[in-house]
Parts: sequence; C-alpha cells; structure tokens
Amino acid sequence: MSTQQIGTREVSEDEIAVHWKEESYFEPGPEFIKQANLSDPNVRKRFALENFPECFTEYADLLTWDRRWDTTLDTSDPPFWKWFVGGKLNASFNCIDRHLAANKNKAAVIFVPEPEAMATEAITYQDLYVRVNEMAALLRDFAGLKAGDRVTLHLPMVPELPITMLACARIGVVHSEVFGGFSGEACGVRVADSGSRVMITMDGYYRNGKLLDHKVNADIAVETAAKEGQHVEKVLVWKRHPDRYSSTTAMVAGRDHFVNEVLDDYRGQKVAPLAMDSTAPLFLMYTSGTTGRPKGCQHGTGGYLSYVAGTSKYIQDIHPEDVYWCMADIGWITGHSYIVYGPLAVGATSVIYEGVPTYPDAGRAWRIAERLDVNIFHTSPTTIRMLRRAGPLEPAKYQYHFKHMTTVGEPIEPEVWRWFYHVVGKDEAVIVDTWWQTETGGFLCSTIPALERMKPGSAGPGLPGIYPVIFDEQGKEMPAGSGRAGNICIRNPWPGIMQTIWGDPARMVKTYYAKYCKNLESKSWSDWPYFAGDGAMLAEDGYFRVLGRVDDVINVAGHRLGTKEIESACLTVEEVAEAAVVPVVDEIRGRAPEVYVSLKPGIEATPDIPAKVVHAIETTIGKIGRPRDVRIVPDMPKTRSGKIMRRVLAAISNSMDVGDITTLANPDVVEQIRVQVQGQEKFVTRDGPEDIKQFGQQE
Ligand code: WT7
Repeated sequence: MSTQQIGTREVSEDEIAVHWKEESYFEPGPEFIKQANLSDPNVRKRFALENFPECFTEYADLLTWDRRWDTTLDTSDPPFWKWFVGGKLNASFNCIDRHLAANKNKAAVIFVPEPEAMATEAITYQDLYVRVNEMAALLRDFAGLKAGDRVTLHLPMVPELPITMLACARIGVVHSEVFGGFSGEACGVRVADSGSRVMITMDGYYRNGKLLDHKVNADIAVETAAKEGQHVEKVLVWKRHPDRYSSTTAMVAGRDHFVNEVLDDYRGQKVAPLAMDSTAPLFLMYTSGTTGRPKGCQHGTGGYLSYVAGTSKYIQDIHPEDVYWCMADIGWITGHSYIVYGPLAVGATSVIYEGVPTYPDAGRAWRIAERLDVNIFHTSPTTIRMLRRAGPLEPAKYQYHFKHMTTVGEPIEPEVWRWFYHVVGKDEAVIVDTWWQTETGGFLCSTIPALERMKPGSAGPGLPGIYPVIFDEQGKEMPAGSGRAGNICIRNPWPGIMQTIWGDPARMVKTYYAKYCKNLESKSWSDWPYFAGDGAMLAEDGYFRVLGRVDDVINVAGHRLGTKEIESACLTVEEVAEAAVVPVVDEIRGRAPEVYVSLKPGIEATPDIPAKVVHAIETTIGKIGRPRDVRIVPDMPKTRSGKIMRRVLAAISNSMDVGDITTLANPDVVEQIRVQVQGQEKFVTRDGPEDIKQFGQQE
C-alpha cells in the first residue's frame, strides 16, 4: 500500500481520500490548446440556458440525417423527453458508411488480443462496412430479427462485439449487451427482462493468460431465462478463433449456431441502413439500483448519438488522425459511448484491447500505447491504481505520448491523479475527470480540456448545456462554497439522457425525478430536475466534487452493484438465514462489498459456509461481486421493527463511529460484531468517506 507523510504520521491512501482538501490547479499545455477542437471561450455563452434546447443542434449537426428534425425537444410527456423529433437517421450509417468516401482504408478499430504473441488486427472502415453488412443480413434473414426486437449480447472485448452492435443498429434491432464478466445467470435475468429470443455470445476469450470457456454461460443464461418465462430460440456463437472451437461446452442442436459458419451464406451481402426515427430505441444497458431487479436503461437513436458524437469531439478532443484508446469494457456504458458510438461517429481509430492491462506484466499497456502511437487514453481510477501498484516507474520506459487522458467511473484520489498526470501523462497530457452514469448516455461534468484548469479529485463544472445543482434533502439549493455535501441533480434535460426504464416507466419517474419534482403535472422541463443518486460538493470555483452513491449501490472498480442483488445471492445458500452487504474501502477497487450473514437456527458456523457464499455470489452475479470478507455473525443489528441496520455494519467494516445505537432492538450485538471484526482493542474512530457515512441511512 502506498503511503504519504502528513505531519509526523504516515497515512494510507484511503485516509488521504477521506481528508481531501482544496487542491491546486493544473493548466492545459500550449501544445494541446493549439490543436484543440474546442477552444472558443464563447462556448458557454452559446450553450447558455437561454439558448436551451436549441444549443444542442450543434451536436446533432455533427451527424448525417436522412430527414432533419422538426422539434428539437418535445417535453409534452415529462420526464420522457424526446429529442430531435421528426428526424430520421441510422447509427450504423453514421458510424461507418459516411466515412467510406474519404477514409475507407483507415483503421476504424484496432484489436489487440491479450496474448502478446498474437498479431493485432486493424479493421478498416471498408472492412467494418462489409462485416457489419454481412452480420446484419444474418440477423435479419437467419435469425428473423426486425426493427424493435431486442437481442441480448454476452460478448467479451473482441471486434465481433462492435460488429454485432452496429449490425443490430443497421436494421433497427435493439441490442442489450451484458458485460462478458457477468455470470450466465445474471445474463439470463437480463435476457428475460428484455424479452430477447436470440442471444449472441462467443465460445471463449483470453483473460489473464487463460482462454476462458464462455459458451458455458450461454447455456446457463438460456436456462435462467426459461425459468423466468422467456424462451430463447437461437444462440449465435462467434468463434474466438475462426478455425476451431474454443469451448468444451456442447452446441445444442437446433438452437446453437456458429456465426462464422452461417456467415458464409451471407458473404458480400449488403443491407441498406434503415432510416430510424430519432426517438427509436438504439440499445438497452442494464444497471443496478436500490431494489433487487436491474434496470434496463433505454437509450434512443438521435439524441444519444448526437450527444456522444459531440462530447467525443469536444471533451475527448478526438480528431480524425488521432489514435484513441479507451480501456473500459464495451459491456459497460463507457464502452458503448466512448469506444464504439462516439469515436466511430466522428471517424476515429478506436483501440480495443481484449484483456487485463497488467498482463503479462506492468508494461503491457504502455507497450500497446507505444506501438500503436495512442495519443488519447481513457481509463478508470481502479485501473490507474492497479497500474501504479504494478509498475510505478514503467511508463517512463516507453516512447508514447498522450495529448489527452480521461479518468471515469469513481472518485479519484488527488494523489493517484497526480501520478496519472506526471508519470502516465509525462506532464504533457491534459486530463478530464468525467462524471456521468449509465442513465445519462454521456459526460455530465468535466472541465473543457483546452479552456478550463484541472483540479485533482474534482470532475469540474457541468458540460456546455448541462446545468448541475446540489440540493439538500428538502430540495433547497446548496450554494457554491458551502463546504457541505448534498445531492447532485441536473436542472435540465440533455440529448443523451435515457428514454425510459425498459418495461417500467413508473420506476423511471420514481427513481430519478419524484424526489425533487415539485409538480408532477407540470409540462415544463424546469420542474423536473434529474436526481443522479450521488453525493457531491460544489466548490467556490464552480467545480463539482462527486463523493459517491447515496443509495444502496456499491461502486466496485467503477461498476455499480446493488446491495440487494448481492444479498439475494447470499440467501440462496441453504445455511444462511439473513444477509447484509456493506461497502468497504478498498485500496485498488475503490469500494468492495463485505458480507455479513447470520445462520439458520441450529446451524453451526463451519469454514465452508463463507466459501459457499462467495460461490453463490459468483454464480448469480459474477466475479466482479466477490466480497472482501464473509463474516458469520450471531445476529444482525436490528431496529425494533426488525430492519437490519446496514449503516452500523458499514461503520464497523470501515472502522468508523457506529453512531447512536441506543434505539436498536439488540444493541449488545454491535460490540460483539465489532470485536469479531476489529479485535478487542477499539480502533480510533475517524470520519469516513461520505458515501459510506450515507450508506444505509435511508433505511
Ligand atoms: C456512478 C455511475 C460513468 C460511466 C461509468 C460508470 C460514479 C462515475 C465518476 C467520476 C466520481 C464517478 C458515480 C455515478 N462515477 N464517474 N468522474 N467521479 N464518481 O457508470 O456504472 O452507471 O456508474 O459512478 O457514483 O453515479 P455507472
């Protein structure tokens, strides 16, 4: 663990995060400013509220429309905002076809397999065009899919993933990609919720030096979906190596088909891109919320694509000649918006790396950057912490130069930010800390890279046209510089905002708007602030510092996991009577889940029970949900009405003050658990991170 001297005492990284102070600014360099896409200081005036919503036509104009829109923003059915109504366009056409005339031989995607001895594969726009067309023909004619149908993808980080997404988009099919690291069961639940009768997967993929069997998850997903009443007719299986089958799981006759083989029948076929309504759904992306069931965030075509194209150009500063590498997984929203749709819409070269950034050693990422001459680099604090731990001096050994870097997904500790800036960025690259969410489609807060100074640990102001505000619990605005945290909200709609929660529009209103909408009858957007679910502070300078979730969501390595989802997984273990999951500060992953279970009467606490709990979490959710610890406790701290007090457990796990426990039904158990977790000697209690202080307070 890295430490730093504060006064006479050595403190660890997580303490630094807790004791954040105001940081000093960093200036973007003159070289960057000279070439930046957005260097007009009047941009904020152009995007002033009095020019809303028309200001966003600037983003929509980056696209090619089959029919121009009549209405920029339709607010007739709040909060289901409709952008660029009357317009028609196709996302696949915008990401591929329109670049052919000038750039057909340019690499659209450069695929870097994890095994370093395997050749990288550059896929030109022409090649992408052919492959997407053939796949679109297969989806339409072999799989029988048509516009509006949903199809679930469970694909790893391979070019076949964007190819499949863009093939869906070409014919108006709504793709729902489930992160490849999610378990078969988790995938099946999403198959059922989206009503997919076709699933697309891959036989295997490389991760940490191993060729994993991935096809096995499809069988589990189909079975899980069936239990939920959704029949999957076809499972389309891409082969990781086209000349062989990389899985030991049997293909089910009549149901499973190798895409690579079926594609032979569609060789050279072209499918005209379907002109879709701007408001037609483009994809679903599932994310975790407060209650158990994951929400399918539905993103539309015109608004979403405009927003990711605009932010890719102006905030990511992507120029046509740049080599852009976002290390996120396409299975998350970051990858959809800022590996696939945004960069390809603006005609960039987007790098896709299959595996672990530190495999086979700490220099791997930098070798890739050096070899491909990557100049825009996009990643998360968790990955930065990992790279720093694996090789703090590694970047200097390689001849790459970044002009621009992004950090996204979790708050970044200023100390980690500075390593990113000085060592990875070699004091040359500008950094944007972009705050946003699955629901928001694209960035909400960030500095404008050439125009605004960076401040380590702060995302910055709202993007042009985005008006964030911090409300207290009562809905009173908290002014800049108040020094207190509140709930960050966005005052106005923007083109990237999700359209609805798939199949559950009421939940959309309840989750994001009910808290601060003063008049549910109002047709004025200004009465509908968007509640993001994050705690944040607004500094004097107008920069937002996002502290973390205020709901029961744990942000593990930049990915959201619902407490309730993990708890229900624990409850599938026969011996377990009750389960409570809390976030604990983790040196690499930011936060990790920690599990408390109590056992059914008469069951003895044996050492195999924690292992069973871990196994249950891995099968229902995936390895990403693996807890730091599973603790078997005699009883849960409870209120008199029988509710488990998660905030007390969170305080114990993080060595924080447990607060007032006098009203509990069983206050004695708190000290018992504390001793069990921390040992006899009482830890010095300290002020904890805001999200952990908030955790469970709503109960
Ligand atoms: C949650 C959204 C944004 C795409 C990847 C994650 C946290 C996100 C930041 C940031 C501090 C951040 C928030 C947010 N978050 N970016 N720059 N600084 N926190 O998408 O899975 O929907 O998670 O990630 O808590 O609500 P997601």
